[in-house]
Amino acid sequence: MSDYDVIVIGGGPGGYVCAIRCAQLGLKTACVEGRGALGGTCLNVGCIPSKALLHASELVHEAEGNFKKMGIIAKDVSVDVKKMLSYKADVVKSNTSGIEFLFKKNKVDYIQGWGEIAAAGEVKVGDKSYKTRHIVIATGSEPASLKGVEVDEERVVTSTGALELKEVPKRLVVIGAGVIGLELGSVWGRLGAEVTVVEFLDHVTPGQDAEVQRQFQKLLQKQGFKFILGAAVSGVEKGDDLKVKYTLRKDDSTHELEADVVLLATGRRPYTEGLGLEKVGIETERGMVKTNKVWQTNVQGIWAIGDVIAGPMLAHKAEDEGMAVAESIAGQHGHVNYDVIPGVIYTAPEVAAVGKTEEQLKEEGRAYKVGKFSFMANGRAKANLVTDGFVKILADKQTDRVLGCHIIGPGAGDLIHEICVAMEFGAAAEDIARTCHAHPTFSEAVREAALACGDGPIHS
Ligand code: FAD
Ligand code: NAI
Repeated sequence: MSDYDVIVIGGGPGGYVCAIRCAQLGLKTACVEGRGALGGTCLNVGCIPSKALLHASELVHEAEGNFKKMGIIAKDVSVDVKKMLSYKADVVKSNTSGIEFLFKKNKVDYIQGWGEIAAAGEVKVGDKSYKTRHIVIATGSEPASLKGVEVDEERVVTSTGALELKEVPKRLVVIGAGVIGLELGSVWGRLGAEVTVVEFLDHVTPGQDAEVQRQFQKLLQKQGFKFILGAAVSGVEKGDDLKVKYTLRKDDSTHELEADVVLLATGRRPYTEGLGLEKVGIETERGMVKTNKVWQTNVQGIWAIGDVIAGPMLAHKAEDEGMAVAESIAGQHGHVNYDVIPGVIYTAPEVAAVGKTEEQLKEEGRAYKVGKFSFMANGRAKANLVTDGFVKILADKQTDRVLGCHIIGPGAGDLIHEICVAMEFGAAAEDIARTCHAHPTFSEAVREAALACGDGPIHS
């Protein structure tokens, strides 16, 4: 007889959610985690600590910016970096210990240590071996490396080190204008660093709607970000100053930038070290564990979810896959709608997107219409002095069905979910436009963008 019905390897948002759902569905479940705390990248060195620092640094920015305009006199706002990091550490601890509590409550066994798949139906942790009917691989991802850039997590850091800098660097050079570079660049920029971002492409945040990319870059520049676009970093030389070497793609010329800290943020790659994939014969593709549409690997009884498989590397995508796999193992029909996975960048203003971009619709040759509304004309945004940005809804030209939405502006990360629900229900822009929205809220801008897909918005 097996020790368990399911052993989940990895206690991140994919793994811990999967384990809890398995237990809730009556399966005897264990979760193996090697880092000494549950919650994975997300809770320990990703989503949660970065959002704590983004929140704290945004308050500093607000105090230095809008306070005076609102008649609030806050003298000598200063930052105690050590205290800010300890606030962040407390936030992390309360979240990770919360997962331990949930495991106990749901009767999930937490096995501490690094797991190895010895065979289908057998997981080894240290010198112990556990039998199980199913194994779920949820081992996540790690920062991608870049040739010529040697990370020491003190001066040349990945996101992990950038969440732990002991003081505000004078000059921060960020390699990569993706989500990590712009979120963590914002944190240190607001605290006083001069931030220069070197990006390979000609625009920021690959994959976003181009209009949002342009507006986002402009707003970040207004906040002090410098961008060197169309430039590939080829190395970082360490001396008293760090020297970042890059090549401009347009003329192949090479250049150099000096920095006190360099943040390498050129993407993440799946993490499968020591897992024993080759031994068991589990297929991979470009480092990712290969699965079919219902998250089964090529070896029966072994499943995989989250950052370690294909798709966007997002915590909520991993969580949804975790729930769906649990349901499939329990004999139900787990499902994830990959067309409706929102993405949010937690800068100020926030950037949020779901569904198709205009560029994708053009490429597909699909007839569409655009409904756009600026936060400049939103009463609440005016009251709060946060009028930068807009809501843009893309709807099918004939049927009016919502195909995508792109928001840059206050509360974008929350506003986008109205569109997610609408898309899940196959709604038309008119359905959103005819729904009563409370006044005065930022969400009225979403309604007005929906109105703009039809007879026109009221307030512009
Ligand atoms: P992970 O969270 O990486 O968890 C995998 C776990 O498995 C790890 O704890 C690891 O220690 C463990 N493990 C690996 N191998 C073994 C083994 N052999 N035995 C035992 N344990 C093992 N996403 C968002 O959606 N929103 C955000 O705001 C956001 N912010 C981010 C900010 C930063 C700085 C970073 C780096 C990432 C951020 N992400 C964000 C991405 C998000 O963290 C990941 O998409 C998410 O954590 C993936 O979940 P996962 O469960 O697949 O893997
Ligand atoms: P990314 O893929 O978002 O961006 C990496 C950028 O680096 C790209 O724009 C790329 O063109 C550029 N680049 C690559 N090589 C380069 C070079 N040699 N020189 C200059 N530029 C180069 O990756 P990032 O920001 O590291 O994030 C990794 C993952 O973490 C993302 O997939 C994201 O989904 C997830 N994440 C999500 C967050 C959120 O949801 N808010 C926050 C942080 C991370």
